[in-house]
Amino acid sequence: MNKKDYIIRLEEKKDYREVENLVRESFWNVYRPGCSEHYVIHTLRDDEAFIPELDFVMEKDGVLIGQNMFMKTIIEADDGRVVDVLTMGPIGITPELKRKGYGKAILDYSLEKATKMGFGAVLFEGNIDFYGKSGFDYACKFGIRYHDLPEGADASFFLCKELIPGYLDGITGVYQTPQGYYVSDEDVEAFDKAFPPKEKLKLPGQIF
Ligand SMILES: CC(C)(COP(=O)(O)OP(=O)(O)OC[C@H]1O[C@@H](n2cnc3c(N)ncnc32)[C@H](O)[C@@H]1OP(=O)(O)O)[C@@H](O)C(=O)NCCC(=O)NCCS
Repeated sequence: MNKKDYIIRLEEKKDYREVENLVRESFWNVYRPGCSEHYVIHTLRDDEAFIPELDFVMEKDGVLIGQNMFMKTIIEADDGRVVDVLTMGPIGITPELKRKGYGKAILDYSLEKATKMGFGAVLFEGNIDFYGKSGFDYACKFGIRYHDLPEGADASFFLCKELIPGYLDGITGVYQTPQGYYVSDEDVEAFDKAFPPKEKLKLPGQIF
């Protein structure tokens, strides 16, 4: 990746459909046959937990090649406190440009912006092989548990990064995924019909 060959800027209304198509291309057949993330992003923009100041696109040669966004959520602490945190995603890079450093570039840029806005920590589901390079660690190391996960179950998918060092010191508790991320298969199907046809494939490595 040439460091100067892209810009990162806030998403604008005029970008919405292009971004949804980008997200669809990026996630298609990765975690399941087809994907739901393009519909998720479509609905999240209208959610009160959505943060427009942290809704970024990456542009190269006038074409959108990546995006990332954040939502507000909470940790329900074991001592009764409610701790405000961020969650993140979808984050996606156009398929032709994956594994060239663009994902890390938009991730690090957006984390820096979130830090400047004063947010304390980011938690979400992801692959440590990618996010570990940007300072994420397993959330269990911070004493934070994933909602609805049976005790002893593998939680290595659940990651955390403090944006304010020590923000989660002295806190144990349960992280809650914002409701906006849950969409029905029927709604995804209906939304997907407005996009060009794509073949859904069952592939090794998919988790759903
Ligand atoms: C995940 C994603 C955003 C990463 O962006 P990217 O531009 O492809 O990643 P980068 O080139 O910046 O990766 C930096 C490093 O992270 C690691 N990494 C990135 N993607 C990885 C993956 N899928 N598995 C393992 N390690 C990965 C690698 O070490 C990589 O360096 P390398 O290519 O020199 O080995 C992008 O691949 C994508 O859009 N994937 C599909 C959608 C998705 O899964 N989104 C994330 C959901 S949590």
